[in-house]
Amino acid sequence: MNRRHLILSLAAAAATFVSIQAPAAMGKDEALGLAQQSGCLACHSIEKKVVGPAWQDVAARYKGNAAARGDLIAKVKAGGKGNWTEVTGGVPMPPYSPRVTDENITALVDFILSL
Ligand code: HEC
Repeated sequence: MNRRHLILSLAAAAATFVSIQAPAAMGKDEALGLAQQSGCLACHSIEKKVVGPAWQDVAARYKGNAAARGDLIAKVKAGGKGNWTEVTGGVPMPPYSPRVTDENITALVDFILSL
């Protein structure tokens, strides 16, 4: 566990302890649980390319790009390819709407962009 993970875990534990619910941003464990449940982790990890790009690389690519959040929500809903061909060899991302709710897709994208 590196220091950043430790700090995040401690922050998450503290938030749970005093029952603070952050309405917008999900904690890391909660977001990863949702990603697992939604099937994302079959093709993604935070740090490494699996089938799809590493989520921290996605965050780095779109940093400071105000349009990215909406574009990525639309991409997770509808699926698609072409933005990461040099990483994936052109494999498409499957569509997730409606099997994952809009609310959960938004939470997952916000988590990814926060990395
Ligand atoms: C079957 C494999 C697979 C699964 C499962 C999968 N992805 Fe992907 N994902 C990909 C691939 C491949 C790409 C690259 C698409 C491209 O080149 O535009 C990608 C790209 C992305 C991107 C970046 C999109 C862009 O245009 O830059 C995000 C964000 C993302 N995935 C989130 C998710 C989330 C959230 C889930 C779960 C709900 C998920 N993925 C499930 C394969 C997958």
